[in-house]
Amino acid sequence: MRFWASAVATACITVGFAAATSAQTVKLGVIDTYSGPFAAVGEQMDRGIRLYVKQHEKDLPPGVKLEIIRRDDTGPNPEIAKRMAQELITRDHVQLLAGAVYTPNALAIAPLATEAKVPFIIMNAGTAMITTKSPYIARVSFTMWQSSYPLGAWAAKSGVKKVYTAVSDYGPGIDAEAAFTKGFTDAGGQIVGSVHMPLVNPDYVPFMQRAKDAGPDAVFAFVPAGKDATALMKTFGDLGLKQAGIKLIGPGDITTDEELQNMGDVALGVVTAFHYSAASTRPANQAFVKAYQAEFNTKDDPAFEAVGGYDGMAAIFHVIIAQNGKIDPDKTMELLKGWKDDASPRGPIMIDPETRDIVQNEYMRKTEKVDGKLANVEFETMPMVKDPWKEINHQK
Ligand code: PHB
Repeated sequence: MRFWASAVATACITVGFAAATSAQTVKLGVIDTYSGPFAAVGEQMDRGIRLYVKQHEKDLPPGVKLEIIRRDDTGPNPEIAKRMAQELITRDHVQLLAGAVYTPNALAIAPLATEAKVPFIIMNAGTAMITTKSPYIARVSFTMWQSSYPLGAWAAKSGVKKVYTAVSDYGPGIDAEAAFTKGFTDAGGQIVGSVHMPLVNPDYVPFMQRAKDAGPDAVFAFVPAGKDATALMKTFGDLGLKQAGIKLIGPGDITTDEELQNMGDVALGVVTAFHYSAASTRPANQAFVKAYQAEFNTKDDPAFEAVGGYDGMAAIFHVIIAQNGKIDPDKTMELLKGWKDDASPRGPIMIDPETRDIVQNEYMRKTEKVDGKLANVEFETMPMVKDPWKEINHQK
């Protein structure tokens, strides 16, 4: 699976047309997680990037080449991410930066993007305030508030009265907790307990036991997608919360598509809010899933991180094509503001011109069995949701 050899991946790929006299090479630095326990999540994002390039390199203007320089941040490690970004900027002279699965890494890179005036396209990290940390950031992924805030209102409306919240103790977890709590309590719900769980090497048993002992109607949980989501789900099952009649709800990270088949039947009935499900029947999504499975010779479904990489490349191709390969940082940011794509696998998307953050549909989903496979089945659409944290706090 891991075709990249070293902890510091130095692989470069060059796409585009053979050098002409007026050849213009755009250098894009990608900071992603290519090794360590979180590598499978990083691989999703990288696959999204590669699939988009493969499908669209023909769309680059004649003489324009794209060189992608990949760097491995090894997981949520801000010092490494910062060093990688520094090297990409000062040594490799990249004109664009992209990637960042994890919030701490995105935050470590933000001041460098500002100082060097290098546009930074965030393909995953989901803490709401990230985009306020640099005018050179645009986000194509999601914010935790986009999913967890409307989920709170939905839960209260659906007869859930008492909730226990359990989240990973870092940016997106804190956001998920705050967003859900506001949506839920504003609509009349009651939080009966909350806990922050460690991000690294967590053991979910004591936390799920405490949640069970509090006797809520539901546990609202966030852990980052990947193996942690499966570990949390299994612990929820093993400790008998489901049998005790306690529901599990959360942002779609907890039933992430790349892990869903590993979670087992305990995942059945879990309700999540999210911007992407591989099971969606939108034609653009079905084409994406098919192309992903063919390209990577797998029956596995792509997950939201792959879509983040894919749509991030769509945004990057847009700015490269519009500038004919001559990247001006301020012009690039102007081009990103208001950029729209109606063909994303997740439905229509737009970069909010005011906040540089993603605007997208959020879907209520329930985990069900479809053709013998677990699937996040969408049952309600909230159209074109802006980041509620920025709306509520008047943040730009
Ligand atoms: C983040 O660090 O911002 C992050 C990582 C994984 C997720 C969601 C958010 O599933």
